[in-house]
Amino acid sequence: MSEFAEILDETTGLQPNKVLTVEKVQWVKHWNDRLFSFAISRPSSFRFRSGEFVMIGLPGESKKPLLRAYSVASPSYAEELEFLSIKVENGPLTSHLQKIKEGDEIYLGRKPTGTLVADTLLPGKRLFLLATGTGLAPFLSIIRDPDIYDRFEKIILVHSVRRVSDLAYYDDLVNQIADDPLVSEEAAEQFTYIPTVTREEFERTSRINTMIEDGSLFTDRIGLPKKLDPATDRLMLCGSMDMIKDFEKYLNEQGFKEGSNSEPGDFVIERAFVD
Ligand SMILES: Cc1cc2nc3c(=O)[nH]c(=O)nc-3n(C[C@H](O)[C@H](O)[C@H](O)COP(=O)(O)OP(=O)(O)OC[C@H]3O[C@@H](n4cnc5c(N)ncnc54)[C@H](O)[C@@H]3O)c2cc1C
Ligand SMILES: NC(=O)c1ccc[n+]([C@@H]2O[C@H](COP(=O)([O-])OP(=O)(O)OC[C@H]3O[C@@H](n4cnc5c(N)ncnc54)[C@H](OP(=O)(O)O)[C@@H]3O)[C@@H](O)[C@H]2O)c1
Repeated sequence: MSEFAEILDETTGLQPNKVLTVEKVQWVKHWNDRLFSFAISRPSSFRFRSGEFVMIGLPGESKKPLLRAYSVASPSYAEELEFLSIKVENGPLTSHLQKIKEGDEIYLGRKPTGTLVADTLLPGKRLFLLATGTGLAPFLSIIRDPDIYDRFEKIILVHSVRRVSDLAYYDDLVNQIADDPLVSEEAAEQFTYIPTVTREEFERTSRINTMIEDGSLFTDRIGLPKKLDPATDRLMLCGSMDMIKDFEKYLNEQGFKEGSNSEPGDFVIERAFVD
């Protein structure tokens, strides 16, 4: 148990209520000084669609729950709920959350929601999942869900980060998805992972929009056409406000229609954080 958990136990502990359950941390993995992943227990009543987000948190000042939105990184069938988190210096939640240890308690909202789900998209051939930073999280859920491989012929995950060490899940994405018993066969044929690092040396260093504009994103593995086509291509985007705004404008200009839970379209977006 961490120092933080002992402080909580000495006071009141965490109490569930109408909108929150109390869950146990199962494991924690730190990627670097800015990023970590962790998993918590999943209550049997908690249902979600792969790609959705939920509120999670810890007691804040005067023990009132301090909650933030987090994308669930595990797929809808998983036994535990996995998250990928930023560590914001002096961030009200993450300056504490980054200290959690196995066995600690954490609040979980009872109602997941979100637009990065398969039902918000019209049928298509290629699905592009475009992420910057922690915007990777919802796509980790989607690519581990067999349903997406039935809906699309090709799934292309593009992850853009500043530093090599920001490429969380790099080894898993390169190797392990092929070992995942539920999706391994489909992934071997249909899944492509394209990481890019924009502020350090790496095999690829362009922003996602540049790779689309200069065509370098369209490798032989993902097939033709070597550009985005609203007739066959669908996109999900998750990342910073700037990236989302720029892509929204670009995709509208290219004739793509934005989808929603009430009306499916060609692309859907979600901010990875609010600035
Ligand atoms: C729909 C939605 C889904 C989200 N999913 C995730 C997720 O899966 N993982 C995650 O780490 N965060 C996610 N966030 C952001 C998260 O809700 C918090 O903002 C984050 O945990 C920081 O909390 P904080 O209280 O420490 O700082 P805050 O006061 O919330 O944020 C302070 C500042 O830190 C920066 N910041 C916050 N979050 C991020 C981030 N993820 N990446 C880079 N800079 C950031 C912003 O400049 C922000 O203004 C999501 C936000 C939204 C709206
Ligand atoms: N990552 C770090 O090492 C680091 C360290 C300390 C503080 N921070 C702070 O944390 C916040 C978030 O940082 P982050 O690294 O998670 O996210 P970020 O700044 O959004 O960068 C993530 C990736 O998105 C790319 N990108 C940014 N804007 C884009 C756009 N409009 N179109 C396409 N691609 C775009 C970046 O490319 P470019 O590199 O070309 O911008 C980078 O590859 C920032 O405010 C930053 O100051 C980050």
